[in-house]
Amino acid sequence: MRTVKTLGLMGTGVIGGGWAARALHYGIDVIAADVKPEMEEWIRGAVANAEPALSRLTFAPLPPKGKLTFTTNLHEMAAKADFIQENIPENVELKQRVLAEVSRTAPADVIIASSTSGIMPTELQRDMVAPERLLVGHPFNPVYLLPLCELVGGEKTSAATIEAARKFYTYIGMHALHVRREVPGHLTDRLQEALWREILHLVNDGVATTGELDESIIYGPGLRWAAMGTNMIYHLAGGQPGMRHMLAQFGPCLKWPWTKLEAPELTEELIDRMVEGTQAQAGGRSIRELERLRDDYLVAIQQVLRQYNIGAGATLKAIETRLYEEQAAKAPAPEAGSAVRLDTEVRPDWVDYNGHMSDFRYPQVFGDALDKMYRKVGIDDAYRASGRMYYTVETHLTYGVEVKASEPIYVLTQVISVDDKRLHVFHTLHRRRDDQVVATGEQMHLHVNTAQAKASPVDPTVRARLEALRDAHAKLPRSKQQGRSIGMPKV
Ligand SMILES: NC(=O)c1ccc[n+]([C@@H]2O[C@H](COP(=O)([O-])OP(=O)(O)OC[C@H]3O[C@@H](n4cnc5c(N)ncnc54)[C@H](O)[C@@H]3O)[C@@H](O)[C@H]2O)c1
Repeated sequence: MRTVKTLGLMGTGVIGGGWAARALHYGIDVIAADVKPEMEEWIRGAVANAEPALSRLTFAPLPPKGKLTFTTNLHEMAAKADFIQENIPENVELKQRVLAEVSRTAPADVIIASSTSGIMPTELQRDMVAPERLLVGHPFNPVYLLPLCELVGGEKTSAATIEAARKFYTYIGMHALHVRREVPGHLTDRLQEALWREILHLVNDGVATTGELDESIIYGPGLRWAAMGTNMIYHLAGGQPGMRHMLAQFGPCLKWPWTKLEAPELTEELIDRMVEGTQAQAGGRSIRELERLRDDYLVAIQQVLRQYNIGAGATLKAIETRLYEEQAAKAPAPEAGSAVRLDTEVRPDWVDYNGHMSDFRYPQVFGDALDKMYRKVGIDDAYRASGRMYYTVETHLTYGVEVKASEPIYVLTQVISVDDKRLHVFHTLHRRRDDQVVATGEQMHLHVNTAQAKASPVDPTVRARLEALRDAHAKLPRSKQQGRSIGMPKV
């Protein structure tokens, strides 16, 4: 299977737009095809709308953004793409026909994945040329922020197709979940629909409004689901004996039953209740406004989960590790006259009431700069896992010109001195638009054995790399802020 440089999209609606934003963000070119020419403007708008949240998801060094092109000619797309993702309406006959057509143009080593929410891949590959390269790659809206992608093979799908698709989706920051047996609705939509059916019954029977039902999820189970899912949470609900006790206690309820299984008839009255209920919940906010709110909290949740290396946070952490490693591998050996450089920007939530970057964010940015230098010299997750790390023991900050939300900035980090246990560094934070010095940070770090919480000698290879940086940085001009402390002139 091919290395994917260009992703071809068939159908550029809600899901096609989401795929485009995600792929472009991770440096993949996109050729988007839709039967409606007006979808070009739509997909460009969708990519732009995704940008504010996507750009805040990670500050790890991303490759240059991919390029987006649009065509109404499916065959042009099929001839140029290295991987094709189909996102046309959920209609078996339409998908079968279009997939078969595209498979006649796309070379046999180009994987074709369908975003279908519930159609089985065996049905989709029926009339295709080289059907072994067809799989379902089912994403979730918004595709650019939610990492889950269900991978489902049909009777003719090859194991190599599943493996190559897993590799590609992982590359663009996703969590590929292999659904080992095809079933209608795959895994997630089967679960979601069970809940959805019960919601429709409860609204239909006048038991609760859409708002009350959403409250029943967002203040409780929803918070638990994000990191542990239903089964682990129920395991905990069983107390010390875990799942066995949980089943003994609540098993009989399954027979009562609490749930109804068959969906209610979608009568006009039920449709009105659902629509009016959700309109009341929206409280006049537009879909765009609500999407922005949703995107912001999805970014925030994933960043918090990353601290616990759990669920979607673990996916984010893994991609960041890869991006940093790729950058470290590319970074040239230290040369005289070049400090270690970190490029980033002021996140909108870093500013104070003046609209400027808050004081307490500076050490955080210097911490990111230090992380970059650490990776360069071999202090990475494996080094930390071996129980060794530098701890900061002293910091002195000075502030120069101000910097505003979303402004591009960069940090230059110099090694001033290094010995067996101590590491003395100096950071200069600049605005990118005029290179002015925004702040400086001088720090002393102590190498520790983290298990014993005691100072310990640094690894000799790491020390040698730090010394090479120190020697290279010794030729850089010395900042007048270096070695300063706060002092009042004596009178
Ligand atoms: N919306 C969701 O939340 C969601 C989530 C996961 C998966 N999906 C699946 O993704 C697919 C697309 O859903 P959507 O919500 O983006 O639909 P959509 O209606 O927003 O977009 C479909 C697009 O396909 C285009 N199209 C129709 N026929 C075409 C053809 N022959 N060739 C090329 N383009 C064609 C349409 O012009 C339209 O732009 C469906 O299979 C759906 O089940 C949807």
